[in-house]
Amino acid sequence: MAITILFLATFSIFSTLIIPSSVADLVHVNTCRSYCGNITIHYPFALQYGCGHPGFRDLLFCINDVLMFHISSGSYRVLDIDYAYQSLTLHDPHMSTCDTIVLGGRGNGFAIDQWRAAYFNPTADNVFMLIGCSARSPLFQGFPGKHLPCRNISGMGCEEYYGCPAWSLVGHKGVGSVYGSGPPECCAVAFESIKAINLSKLECEGYSSAYSLAPLLVDGPSEWSYGIRVKYSVLGNDGFCRACEATSGTCGYGHDGITQLCMCGSLNSTSNCDSVIRSSANKRLGSVMDTFLAAHVISMVIWMISITNLTI
Ligand SMILES: *[C@@H]1O[C@H](CO)[C@@H](O)[C@H](O)[C@H]1NC(C)=O
Ligand SMILES: *[C@@H]1O[C@H](CO)[C@@H](O)[C@H](O)[C@H]1NC(C)=O
Ligand SMILES: *[C@@H]1O[C@H](CO)[C@@H](O)[C@H](O)[C@H]1NC(C)=O
Ligand SMILES: *[C@@H]1O[C@H](CO)[C@@H](O)[C@H](O)[C@H]1NC(C)=O
Repeated sequence: MAITILFLATFSIFSTLIIPSSVADLVHVNTCRSYCGNITIHYPFALQYGCGHPGFRDLLFCINDVLMFHISSGSYRVLDIDYAYQSLTLHDPHMSTCDTIVLGGRGNGFAIDQWRAAYFNPTADNVFMLIGCSARSPLFQGFPGKHLPCRNISGMGCEEYYGCPAWSLVGHKGVGSVYGSGPPECCAVAFESIKAINLSKLECEGYSSAYSLAPLLVDGPSEWSYGIRVKYSVLGNDGFCRACEATSGTCGYGHDGITQLCMCGSLNSTSNCDSVIRSSANKRLGSVMDTFLAAHVISMVIWMISITNLTI
């Protein structure tokens, strides 16, 4: 009898010790955060499926320490991710710059898949300069009744771009801004005005893209930054992730690629880690109680056997 009581007392002390240690297990390290070369990758971006925001899945790939951004128009090298300003700087190897003009429609342009279009938009101060577009291009349809869509964006445009050394090699015919014998050799547009820089659809031979890091006004096209500057956004539904991270969770999504999940160590929650800890602590407490009851029943049996032995 005394042994049984001692056993039960030890057992219940032991079981109360189990609960705090298992809660500690649930506070874990963020397994979704990673690096590619010297670029930090974290929410809403990720390299692994199941990590980050579902609108950003199957987007970034790290190949030999080079971070690639993959969308329907092609693959771009990521030069920088600016988390504070929520923007990305991309580079397309087939994009024309001030030093080279790449023709033959080899450039990617910039067109994003419909399902994720809402998450990405080239910045308002990013200029796309379309080169060698055919007279049949949708850009020039309706002329001369309609105005040409070509304009200067943030002080950057084709008139200045023609001053680049690359044009002296290609041989700019000097058609320029005047719509005389044919369409202009270069037409500068903002992404906003045409929504997709699709070279085959626009029937253009090539393109260049530049952005200005406002409010610095740079002198001349040789000083422009060539690349595509893209704003990203999770469309204001960031509350889920903020609540998850506030409870030491890591933001991700389920196998369906749609449902957001909060990863809390060995468990996933559809809200945040507080709810997981509470319910799993309750579950553990429940199982401890079950064990306690079982132990109690066993000890009762032992006690009864010993009483029976005594009576015999
Ligand atoms: C990464 O390193 C390259 C040089 O290797 C540098 O030009 C670039 O600015 C760096 N990027 C970041 C985000 O630190
Ligand atoms: C939690 O979700 C992630 C991402 O979908 C998945 O990889 C992991 O297996 C899930 N863990 C559990 C315990 O379901
Ligand atoms: C670009 O336009 C062509 C022709 O209209 C189309 O077949 C192709 O799917 C478009 N590409 C993208 C990335 O939208
Ligand atoms: C763009 O600005 C230049 C001067 O920097 C001007 O000559 C040209 O006409 C402008 N082009 C358009 C399309 O407004």
